[in-house]
Amino acid sequence: MNIDGKAWRTIGVEPHGEAIWVIDQTLLPHQFQLRLLSDLAQVAEAIRTMVVRGAPLIGVSGAYGLMLALQQDPSDAALAQAFDTLLATRPTAVNLRWALERVRDLVLALPEAQRAAAARQEADAIADQDVAMCEAIGDHGLRLFQQLEAARPSERREQPFQVLTHCNAGWLATVDWGTALAPIYKAHRAGMAIHVWVDETRPRNQGASLTAFELAREGVPHTVIVDNAGGHLMQRGQVDAVIVGTDRTSRNGDVCNKIGTYLKALAAHDNGVPFYVALPASTIDWTISDGLAEIPIEARSAREVTHIQGRLASSTATGAIGSTANIDSVQLTPDGSDGFNPAFDVTPARLVTALITERGVAAASEQGLLSLYQST
Ligand code: MRU
Repeated sequence: MNIDGKAWRTIGVEPHGEAIWVIDQTLLPHQFQLRLLSDLAQVAEAIRTMVVRGAPLIGVSGAYGLMLALQQDPSDAALAQAFDTLLATRPTAVNLRWALERVRDLVLALPEAQRAAAARQEADAIADQDVAMCEAIGDHGLRLFQQLEAARPSERREQPFQVLTHCNAGWLATVDWGTALAPIYKAHRAGMAIHVWVDETRPRNQGASLTAFELAREGVPHTVIVDNAGGHLMQRGQVDAVIVGTDRTSRNGDVCNKIGTYLKALAAHDNGVPFYVALPASTIDWTISDGLAEIPIEARSAREVTHIQGRLASSTATGAIGSTANIDSVQLTPDGSDGFNPAFDVTPARLVTALITERGVAAASEQGLLSLYQST
């Protein structure tokens, strides 16, 4: 997607394959800076600290992390250790396990001398397939938006099609296009009048910082709202559809996504607003039949609740590529108050209107998923 007229992906390999580069998402939207990662420890740290984040991008980063580890030591023992180190970085998004298993299972069958090169090829393939899947999600989602728009009562058609999204499921969360934002980009590029309500998404504010950054750079009309405003807007008829991403979807269609997603689904249900979840196949966990009971929920540092990061209001930094911003963190809570920070929640399938995948749109149920994925 575009930043100042240049098309970017979120991750790439240095010319001689000795390191990867990523966009440091902890500095956005105020500073656009690439970071080089040249070994397993650096990749693991980048995932853990959310320099890279978003389920699909975490998976691709993990795959390249295995490539870097195998360049240092291609033995079975080193591979197993690298696999475990990367898998432990973020427990909820299943794309990480999926991508790590793809690379590990491929290279285990090869002589040690061929492993690093094979891991590189597989990681590249995972990245390219992620782009293709996200673009296809965009095409299916666009058709859905067009149907919804055409079905709106005539008095509503005066206004842009109003979509609400939570967290960041845009191109920064993937390799390109995004999941939930892909239909929005497709709709905007197709000339549809669309406006996005962007949940700020406390505590780390991926909506206010990353989704708003993406939409602004693509020129998509949007407004950032506090997380608590969505229900009110739905009651007032100002939301035509909600669309979010997911970090893990169980085979029965339960959806685990950024904390606060469940409350949006409840509000949508109460107000008759359709609630869609966009996902690539890599986000489906076929081994789990009950998302609520079985998906591990990552608990992150309480400091993300008690403190908040931003650019100093007095700063004159422009946010342009290459410029440096005065980014700092301030404390919100009294000394001594504890914080609790579950990073994800599970929305039961019954609250999900439909799943939008790279293979089409399906009911959020085992039958719905199997209707798309029974054959490979
Ligand atoms: O904690 P994060 O920022 O990695 O969480 C990201 C989300 O919850 C996204 O909405 C989800 O990964 C879907 S991304 C395409």
